[in-house]
Amino acid sequence: MPQTWAIAGVDLHLDLTGTRRRAALESALREAVSSGRLAPDTRLPSTRALAVDLGLARNTVAEAYSQLVAEGWLSAEVGAGTRVAPRATAQSSPSAASEESAARVRYDLRPGSPDLSSFPRSRWSAAVRRALAVAPDEALGYSDPRGLPQLRRELAGYLARARGVRTHADQLIVCSGFGQALWLICQALCGRGARRLAVEQYLPQRTYATARASGLALTVLAVDGHGGDVGQLGSSDAVLLTPAHQFPFGVSLAAERRAHVAQWAQDTGGLVIEDDYDGEFRYDRHPLGALQALAPQRTVYVGTASKTLAPGLRLGWLAAPADLIDPVLSIKAIADRNLNAVEQLTLAEFIRSGEYDRHVRRCRLMYRRRRDRLVAALGAVRPAVKTSGIAAGLHALVQLPAGHCEDEVVALAAQRGLAIEGLRAYAHRAASPFPALVVGYGTPPEHAFNRAVERLCEVLGSLGASGR
Ligand SMILES: Cc1ncc(COP(=O)(O)O)c(C=O)c1O
Repeated sequence: MPQTWAIAGVDLHLDLTGTRRRAALESALREAVSSGRLAPDTRLPSTRALAVDLGLARNTVAEAYSQLVAEGWLSAEVGAGTRVAPRATAQSSPSAASEESAARVRYDLRPGSPDLSSFPRSRWSAAVRRALAVAPDEALGYSDPRGLPQLRRELAGYLARARGVRTHADQLIVCSGFGQALWLICQALCGRGARRLAVEQYLPQRTYATARASGLALTVLAVDGHGGDVGQLGSSDAVLLTPAHQFPFGVSLAAERRAHVAQWAQDTGGLVIEDDYDGEFRYDRHPLGALQALAPQRTVYVGTASKTLAPGLRLGWLAAPADLIDPVLSIKAIADRNLNAVEQLTLAEFIRSGEYDRHVRRCRLMYRRRRDRLVAALGAVRPAVKTSGIAAGLHALVQLPAGHCEDEVVALAAQRGLAIEGLRAYAHRAASPFPALVVGYGTPPEHAFNRAVERLCEVLGSLGASGR
């Protein structure tokens, strides 16, 4: 009769079938290793402990271990006990394959990420401790679906002060980043009969996908040096814009376009969705407050901690007009009810104590230096190359020399261990007005930044003057 046992120490079930106990143990262990249930380097229990657990003679277990060591499934070293041999798993899993390909990327200048090594680990840990020391027990229960009041209060103050947003804690909803905020807003819009969303012609593809998956038809706005062309809104019910720093062109929405879109929203009852994903990082241009302040009753402002702290926190927020709060909340209640309370309390404490502002200021200085180094290095190696969108944010648009296409340059960079992306990856239906790279100078850790830029310069320097 089959018996299932848990191995002492490592939580694994062994199914020992049949009367030949040693053979059964060997084959159960072989199966556990080859299927990956026992990962490489996992330490197995001692022969004595396993024998007691399984009700076997200690010798039987010792012989089974020796046999599997001889077959290469296990390894045994004096003092280190018996372990699953490295790479003993029969087939490498898909995640192992992607880890291998990630290992070939030595330098990463893809846009979309801040420098993760700059995450303020010790300050964040200290804020966790301070926040938990004073949080009431109720904060750890099912709480207000808008998010914890402690965080919404801090965010309302911060957004008014730093981004000029006109809101208060009751109109803020904490969510898991811009991605979720957009999905919630699109669902709410569809729920009240909206059909058409206007979007900029360049954005991350997942943004288009989110809007389409919600059932909204897209009106595509051309993007030029003044931002998205809001003269083309037509019969749209809503418009999504990146006014502070168009992604990936890096331009800001011109003052007359800001005024135009605010007026359009007032006149038509249309909704403006403002994606303020990296508004904190501006360098040598006037601070540009949130567009939301021009039409607070017709604009949903969305912010995120993904660039200021880390995308892995999954913390974002939206400030919505009063009539959108309940529709968004009823959808959010289905999606996730509440977000992680400890992270919310910690972010509240981080803002309250001034750590958030200090961290943003430190990062702003670091990214500004990086931007200057990037521009200087590119100018030295290819003076004719045009770099734009650099007054703010964490990425720059680098136009390729005439005659060269993005795929060629991306492939050349990959051969040198540098991950980089072309503009076309962000274009609606992959149209691209000119070949360019979107260089995420925020992405590498500080120690790797200079080498990453050198690699990029080598790649650009190796291109012939007029291409093929
Ligand atoms: C245009 C844009 N908006 C927003 C975000 C942030 O998304 P999330 O808050 O879901 O991490 C990104 C991240 O790359 C982005 O590129």
